[in-house]
Amino acid sequence: MPDSPVAGSRKEAAVQALAAVPNVPGAPKPDPILVADNVMRRFGGLTAVDVDHVEIQRGAITALIGPNGAGKTTFFNLLTGFDTPDSGSWLFNGKDLAGIPAYRVARMGMVRTFQLTKALSRMKVIENMRLGSTGQTGERLWASMLPFTWRKQEREITSRADGLLERFNLIAKREDFAGSLSGGQRKLLEMARALMSGPEMVMLDEPMAGVNPALTQSLLQHIKDLREQGMTVLFVEHDMDMVRDISDWVIVMAQGRVIAEGPPEDVMKDSAVIDAYLGGHHDKALTASGVSFTEEDPA
Ligand SMILES: Nc1ncnc2c1ncn2[C@@H]1O[C@H](COP(=O)(O)OP(=O)(O)OP(=O)(O)O)[C@@H](O)[C@H]1O
Ligand SMILES: [Mg+2]
Repeated sequence: MPDSPVAGSRKEAAVQALAAVPNVPGAPKPDPILVADNVMRRFGGLTAVDVDHVEIQRGAITALIGPNGAGKTTFFNLLTGFDTPDSGSWLFNGKDLAGIPAYRVARMGMVRTFQLTKALSRMKVIENMRLGSTGQTGERLWASMLPFTWRKQEREITSRADGLLERFNLIAKREDFAGSLSGGQRKLLEMARALMSGPEMVMLDEPMAGVNPALTQSLLQHIKDLREQGMTVLFVEHDMDMVRDISDWVIVMAQGRVIAEGPPEDVMKDSAVIDAYLGGHHDKALTASGVSFTEEDPA
């Protein structure tokens, strides 16, 4: 387990590092972990993603927001090797990821969760966790001929899985089928499983969707904890109160393009963002508290 630094210290560092970044789409960051250029994905006549340039700051929590159909999930799929763009390049820690399959992207340190959870419901919780580990010696030919090495590693994987299940309050469900978990518990399981490979960057696609309010706070805290442990987080979320609560920086997509960037308070007052939401269709209120997006902007 990584050291746990003083709570909030990494947040302050992240906010400070981003303070001088201009609020413009594609703004360069002081220490980007991920840089994408001219990433384009078409489905027939529809351009789902058309991102000129975007940089994700290392060690920060960045929210990716935008109306339904803006291209957020498609962009995630492209970056993590679950889909292939028509053109473009993107670098993770300076390494070109084009053409690298998803499992190798995960090994390189970038993992993601899905908008619709992908927990394997007919497998036990602990088995789902074990699947999240990568770089297993057991997969390699020579090592597989050495049962001792293999068994030692199996024990390490199991103990890492149990540690994460404790942390995510799922240890009591260890032997249950994933299919028996509630929606919120499945989201927790997915996040815990993503951490099995010890990633540097975690991408979460609507981690809070369908989670009941009792679990929401715990999920939010887990996301903040990822930053405190030194990870970079990029997450998609529709609920603006949650975005405001946990993100250091917000990137806004509409119709496949990045249309705005900035700290949460600034982005929510940005007229291009308000127009994109009003022009788009969205299946959720912009805030959970009922405070309207436009109230702060008396136009
Ligand atoms: N496999 C596909 N085939 C055809 N069109 C697709 C495919 N995947 C996505 N699209 C289209 O691409 C556009 C972007 O979809 P995407 O799911 O990336 O949006 P999103 O921003 O994640 O939306 P939401 O907030 O509703 O999850 C949409 O118009 C969608 O219908
Ligand atoms: Mg989506």
